[in-house]
Amino acid sequence: MSELYTARAPGRVNLIGEHTDYNGGMVLPAALTVGLEATLMPRADTTVAVSSNGYDAPAIRNLADDAVGDWADPCVGAIREANALGLLKGGATIDIVSTIPEGSGLSSSAALIVAVLKAAREAVVEGPGDIEIAIAARRVENNYMGVPCGIMDQMAVALATPGTAMALDTKAMAYGVVPLPANHEMVVVHSGLTRKLTDGRYAARKEECDAAKRHFGTEDLCLLDLATVEASDLDEVPKKRALHCLTENARVHAAIAALDGGHIERFGQAMNASHASMRDLFEMSLPEIDALVASAVELGAVGARLTGGGFGGCIVACVEKDLREEWLEALLSRHPRARFIDAVGG
Ligand code: GLA
Repeated sequence: MSELYTARAPGRVNLIGEHTDYNGGMVLPAALTVGLEATLMPRADTTVAVSSNGYDAPAIRNLADDAVGDWADPCVGAIREANALGLLKGGATIDIVSTIPEGSGLSSSAALIVAVLKAAREAVVEGPGDIEIAIAARRVENNYMGVPCGIMDQMAVALATPGTAMALDTKAMAYGVVPLPANHEMVVVHSGLTRKLTDGRYAARKEECDAAKRHFGTEDLCLLDLATVEASDLDEVPKKRALHCLTENARVHAAIAALDGGHIERFGQAMNASHASMRDLFEMSLPEIDALVASAVELGAVGARLTGGGFGGCIVACVEKDLREEWLEALLSRHPRARFIDAVGG
């Protein structure tokens, strides 16, 4: 009988720094308590058989299959990558137990790929490190699933430690640990609107950023200077995207300094300004989400914003611990489609 290997990966919430991770900038994700566990049994044939608590019937696929746009794609891609890394020689039977809602901007797909790769790593004596696992997981998204995402989600779910945020410089691939505030919580609330990174809107934003990159002759929109972008004759849409990237990157730096210095109000202001930029410059929000964010702040959050790839999913709000219950009750009664997902703090 083959061995069973198990690994866990958390969901993540990005506190600030959206769409900066493929534009040379900073991000500030934190691990959630919701997460998933993958149990893997290597197989001698090329079948990839996946069962999950989220789906009634198992998916039976083959290593040679292309992505078909369904829930098992991340697993097939991960097993192909595990073979390329020399961790497995063939298919696998995989069982997934997850508490991360899909289509919510909480990295369910990155967590799935990272957990499967980490489980496969258990099959060898000396496997790749966590950063290498994160990079391999991004390859699965980019090359197998066709999602042109950055490296934030994979790094966060492969490396983030609970109770802290990860200040990740995606250009240098260097990161530091930022403790979360002791008296506040980062509360994740689902808007009730789901989305998929594969639905084309993420790729459309990436292409608009690419147009701005070509115009300025750089890969790093986040590092451009405000005056240069404002004075340029770049078309309006890519110009707005570039302006979001460079101002968002500055906000991530401000947010990290605010958390380090214990200035929670400043942290909240950076979150609010980030939401306005996502709404007006990157145009990745929806009216229902804007309303949810506005209510979150009106009801007492020090800051709130859409989190993740956009066009649906979750908001994250920074709320005083003692106020959380009352705040949440008021928010959910005003927005009946919204639901509480998780809360993390220091
Ligand atoms: C998704 C992607 C990330 C990042 C965010 C937006 O989560 O997977 O790489 O680009 O959207 O910040």
